[in-house]
Amino acid sequence: MVAKSVAAVARRAAVVRRAGAARRAAAVAQPAAVAQPAAAAVVAQPAAEVEERTLLVTFLRETLRLTGTHVGCDTAQCGACTVHLNGRAVKSCSMLAMQAEGADIMTIEGVAKPDGTLHPMQAAFKENHGLQCGFCTPGMVINAIDFAKRHPDASEQEVRESLEGNLCRCTGYHNIVKSIIAGSKAMAAGK
Ligand code: FES
Ligand code: FES
Repeated sequence: MVAKSVAAVARRAAVVRRAGAARRAAAVAQPAAVAQPAAAAVVAQPAAEVEERTLLVTFLRETLRLTGTHVGCDTAQCGACTVHLNGRAVKSCSMLAMQAEGADIMTIEGVAKPDGTLHPMQAAFKENHGLQCGFCTPGMVINAIDFAKRHPDASEQEVRESLEGNLCRCTGYHNIVKSIIAGSKAMAAGK
């Protein structure tokens, strides 16, 4: 499974460094980053220092440079910033980086296989035209993977309800729903 291979390459941060009263260090699991399908670059970093007030999404984008995680609203409404935290979808603008101390985090950069093969959910979005501008897509895919694992036989209505926290300004959702249904079936079939 992709998640397993990602977990295998993601290093769990083991060191917490302290850097004075104003700054504390948070050891945050380093997401596996597949920069380009062909490059399959995996970055690993045992620990990183962050300000106490730094949001997880800011840490991912600005410190780790994993910019596939987007910021749409910054108020936990749009879902563009969704990542997996210990396998569950969370909005990374709604928590501090320090709250992720010791956790396994997967961003959209870690979803495809290291050789560039798309995750079945990514492939389903591509095949079913589940995106237009693509801004919402990383969060949609990350959320859909978590949803599909927990609801492999979801109805269309259940899929629509699962999108409550993920907003798209372009598609009208019809093809996103089709994509998630197709991706869920592919995941359940072990593709
Ligand atoms: S940026 Fe996090 S939910 Fe919109
Ligand atoms: S594809 Fe443009 S915001 Fe969703």
